[in-house]
Parts: sequence; structure tokens; C-alpha cells
Amino acid sequence: MAFSSSSSTTFFVSHRIQASSLQPKVYQSNISSSMNASRHKKPYRPAHEVEGQVTHSMPPHKMEIFKSLENWAENNLLTLLKPVESSWQPHDFLPDPSLSDKFYEQTEELRKRAKEIPDDYYVCLVGDMITEEALPTYQTVLNTFDGIRDETGASLSPWAIWTRGWTAEENRHGDPLKQYLYLSGRVDMRQIEKTIQYLIGCGMYIKTENSPFMGSIYTSFQERATFISHSNTARHAKRHGDLQLAQICGAIAADEKRHEGAYTRIVEKLFELDPDAAVIAFADMMRKKIVMPAHLMFDGRDPALFDHFAAVAQRLGIYSATDYADILEFLVGRWKVEGLAVGLSEDGKKARDFLCCLGQRYRKLEERARGRREKQERRSVRFSWVFDREVQV
Ligand SMILES: [Fe+2]
Ligand SMILES: [Fe+2]
Repeated sequence: MAFSSSSSTTFFVSHRIQASSLQPKVYQSNISSSMNASRHKKPYRPAHEVEGQVTHSMPPHKMEIFKSLENWAENNLLTLLKPVESSWQPHDFLPDPSLSDKFYEQTEELRKRAKEIPDDYYVCLVGDMITEEALPTYQTVLNTFDGIRDETGASLSPWAIWTRGWTAEENRHGDPLKQYLYLSGRVDMRQIEKTIQYLIGCGMYIKTENSPFMGSIYTSFQERATFISHSNTARHAKRHGDLQLAQICGAIAADEKRHEGAYTRIVEKLFELDPDAAVIAFADMMRKKIVMPAHLMFDGRDPALFDHFAAVAQRLGIYSATDYADILEFLVGRWKVEGLAVGLSEDGKKARDFLCCLGQRYRKLEERARGRREKQERRSVRFSWVFDREVQV
């Protein structure tokens, strides 16, 4: 998954930071003292909390559409999942620990290449990896969508099979990045691991309101965003002379592209069957802004960690406000929004017109923001992920 640009603060959700999460942890040394402490311990709370959450906005009868699409999903979605036997695995890209001499040699080479890569790149790579590692949240959210959720955990509905198959593929994304980062020695693994634990505890709030219309629009946007972001980390890795790392990022990007194909196909079908609901949902998601999956990240130190990470990604061109506008315009074209007429209510027509002008509006806003950025002095922020070294944002 990917993130948004801090240069455009409108893309963010605001959240409250719990002071409790900023306090140091106390580790108990034996069972009785830990039992004692548990009586006085504050209940666990997420580091960031989102208020004013909306649920179940889709009229229940719309669920029928998804029931009627089960055959379609089998033939058009499940065919886009790759068989396990022909899928790449994280192990394919990393030094093999079963070959002891070669393992040390390959690891040494990896560490030599890693020395040549600057901290700002590592901040982006770590942020991308952490985003991927919060996969339990994404599967949870997919199973909040009415009409397509996995009702048992092993449901044979094609929607549920898709969600589990998608999750299984996505589960390969965080692993090679994390293992590479561990071997590189360039980053503070404990801080990174803490960030992952905080993030999964926070979850995400993407304003999809249990609606599979909104959910499929969100995932279409996100898969394309992650495709762009991982493609760019691959490009930069190559530029820094690390072809193996470029290969890892490239393999992940290729998966994201295939997933984008699946989710955009679902929305295309929804535009065919219920164009009014589809265009209204699309406009609604864009009005609320597509918040990024890791928007609630926290490392125990920096309350604005996500904004800082997104600012570095914007500066390096890994993922920028321009990409956000490009994705919107791509989706407007992909779903032929401009040509919609038949079956549209007044609200549907307004939604269509809003979407068709939105890309231009974003571009103008971004141009102004760029002008402001150029006049401002660059500032630096310490990232715990790179041992508190300063990185320009
Ligand atoms: Fe991914
Ligand atoms: Fe993805």
C-alpha cells in the first residue's frame, strides 16, 4: 500500500494522540510482579484514535448486486490470482541461510551496496514496508464490506476466496523488504518493529462505511498508488546501484498492478450495473479524500510521523501529490465517467461533473503548494527508523 503527500494537508485525517502512548514501557521481571502490575495497569488504547466514524451507509438491498455477481467474480477475479507454485517468494530475493559460506558472502555484498544508499531513501523504504506489514488491518477492513465479507474465515464465496487469495499474495510484500532491511544494518529494527505494532493496534479509518462500492473504489486507488510507489523505490534502488533491491521492489510493484486490475474491474462492472450508485460513491470517496493505509502510524516518539514520512516521499518523488491527481484522472478515464448519462439521477450527474473537474483542481492546488515549498527553507526531521539521524522533509 502507499501514502499521501504532506504538502497537501487536505489529504490527511486528523487524529488525537494519546499521551499514554508516549510514556516509557516498564518490563516486568517475574510473574508475580507482572500480575501485581496488571492490576494497576491502564487499559491498552491505540496511539491514534479516529472519532466520528460512519458505518453501513449502503442501503441493504444493494447487497443483492454482489450476490448476483458471484459467478462473474469467479471468472473475472479469481483468474487474476496467481497459483502459489508459480508465485515468487521472499526467499527468492535474499541470501540463502542454508548455504553458510555463500550466505555470508551474499550478505556482505548486500551490506556493501546498502552503504551507498542515503537515509532519505531508507525512510521511504521503511515507510512502505511498515505499510505492507499492517496487512492484518487491510484484511479486517475488506471483511467489513457488506455483501462480500468472508462470513466464516474459510467461506467458499468467490468474494471471500478473492480476499484470502489477495491477502496471501500481499503477505509476501512486507517480508522481503523487512528481511532486506534487517540484513542491511542501516536501520533501527526495534523502532521499526514498534511502529508496526503501534500501527496494527491503531488500524485505519478509510471512510468506506461498510460499502463494497466505496471499498472497491478505495482499493482501486490504493493498488495503483502502491504500484507507483514501489515502482519508484525500484527505480531509485537501481540508480543507487542496488539491483537486487530494485528486483524486490519491482516484483512487489508487479503484484500491485495485477491487484489494481482486479479492483478496477470490479468497479467497472458496478458502473455497468448501477452507474448512479457507482459514480456517487466515487465522488463521495474523493470528497472525503483517499487517506493512506498507514495514516495512523506512530513510533512512540514522533506524533507527526506519517506526515514526515510522506513529505520525504514527496521530495524524492516516490509518491507525490501529482501522483494522487494522476491516479484520480486515470480512474475517471478507466471507468469512462465523462461519458456517463443513462441512468443517472441529479446527484449522479453532479457527482460525474465534480469528478471530471477534480484532477485540474488538484493540479492547480499542487502548483501553488509547490511555489510555497520552493520559497520555504527546507527543514530536517529526526527519524527513529534511521537511528535518529536527521532527514530533510
Ligand atoms: Fe502490497
Ligand atoms: Fe496492494
